Amino acid sequence: MNPPKRRSWAEPYKIKMVEPVKMTTREDRQKAIEEAGYNTFLLRSDDVYIDLLTDSGTSAMSDRQWAGMMLGDEAYAGSRNYYHLEASVKKHYGYKYLVPTHQGRAAEHLISKIMIKKGDVVPGNMYFTTTRLHQELAGGTFADVIIDEAHDPEDEYPFKGNVDLNKLEDLIKKHGADRIPYVSIATSVNMAGGQPLSLENLRQVRELTQKHGIPIIHDMTRVAENAYFIKMKEPGYGDTSIADIVREICDLTDGATMSAKKDALVNIGGFLAINDYEVFEEARNLVVVYEGLHTYGGLAGRDMEAMALGIAESVQEDHIRARVGQVQYLGDKLINWDIPVVRPIGSHGVFLNARKILPDIPQDAFPAQTLAAELYLDSGVRSMERGVVSAGRNPETGDHIYPKLELVRLTIPRRVYTQAHMDVVAESVAEVYENRKKIRGLKMVYEPKYLRFFQARFEPL
Ligand code: F0G
Repeated sequence: MNPPKRRSWAEPYKIKMVEPVKMTTREDRQKAIEEAGYNTFLLRSDDVYIDLLTDSGTSAMSDRQWAGMMLGDEAYAGSRNYYHLEASVKKHYGYKYLVPTHQGRAAEHLISKIMIKKGDVVPGNMYFTTTRLHQELAGGTFADVIIDEAHDPEDEYPFKGNVDLNKLEDLIKKHGADRIPYVSIATSVNMAGGQPLSLENLRQVRELTQKHGIPIIHDMTRVAENAYFIKMKEPGYGDTSIADIVREICDLTDGATMSAKKDALVNIGGFLAINDYEVFEEARNLVVVYEGLHTYGGLAGRDMEAMALGIAESVQEDHIRARVGQVQYLGDKLINWDIPVVRPIGSHGVFLNARKILPDIPQDAFPAQTLAAELYLDSGVRSMERGVVSAGRNPETGDHIYPKLELVRLTIPRRVYTQAHMDVVAESVAEVYENRKKIRGLKMVYEPKYLRFFQARFEPL
């Protein structure tokens, strides 16, 4: 036998506590998915074996974070943990002012309300569901300025999160800088498949926006994961630390909204961070209306402590290498078996190309929603639709928005599952793929007005 020359990646932690999961039969799962209206969001977690619905709030905290929970200072005002969080944000991200919020969308709500006026246009490198909705509720219109490669699941370009500078420049020319309150830049673009943007591109965006006096607001939900790809793929960054790359990204932007439930390894928490004092003042004032006092923003002291510690852990080299490594491991397995997935594999999940897997199901019959339900039926693995259901309807015409990407997201929680779990997931995807010819689509029988993917119900056609 020839032993491999390179050692494989491995988790930089050991397991101290376990949480049993329930194994179910196909009959159990058939009943559960029917009751859930074929929407994986409506399943009870007790009926799920491996939960890849989201990487949001599902991470395992470290022993240090749990110890930090015991240090919660539950004072209404001026909690010690708030000051620790403020120091951690300043040190690792560099933004001047901090307003904690209970999660990311609350920060999006504040910044949209403060900066967007009716009729404004907000360019972004692809949309995120809650981000775009808050922009629209504030009277703005989202405009996609991501490069075309991002909409092609098979294009191997390494920085598919990049902004198309021509699209951005045309938009500024068309509407005028006055109508553009900020450019919304996400790192590790979720809806594109967890695709990174490069520092070179961000610097160019910075240059262009600065010329027109337009600020950049950074959706920094998965900034450390983006930094990892920069380290691995962008020329000149191989020897730069993840922590330094994260700072360099943040320093090129004027403020940020953060869902700390992802990168920052907590089960709940987020913030708005901003360098402009006037915007900060307004946010600090508004947060008391919607979230709570500006030194807790809807969080307990212990939550802020866990977040302060999680931010520091999130930029550690070993952590981020294993985190993204596990996602790549699952992705590579599916690629080796010729199962259509979004390429390159992104940072937080593997995205199945439902359009290609189920070519005979039209988008009106929700191929990705169908595939997610089939995967659950096969093995109890819970995934999420990221296609026409998630894209919603055009607010003006009321028609479905038909996105080019019709995907099922297998989202990997941080530090929760093992390599053997990844093997089970891959085997189940392969099984469903083999039987794909037998799969029929769905019809929507209940549709909520906002963010319909969360609560919509379906029936088999
Ligand atoms: N921005 C991005 C890029 C996100 O992925 C999310 C949440 C948010 C903002 C909103 O943050 O959930 O804390 O209010 N994404 C989760 C997901 C829900 O499953 O992708 P939140």
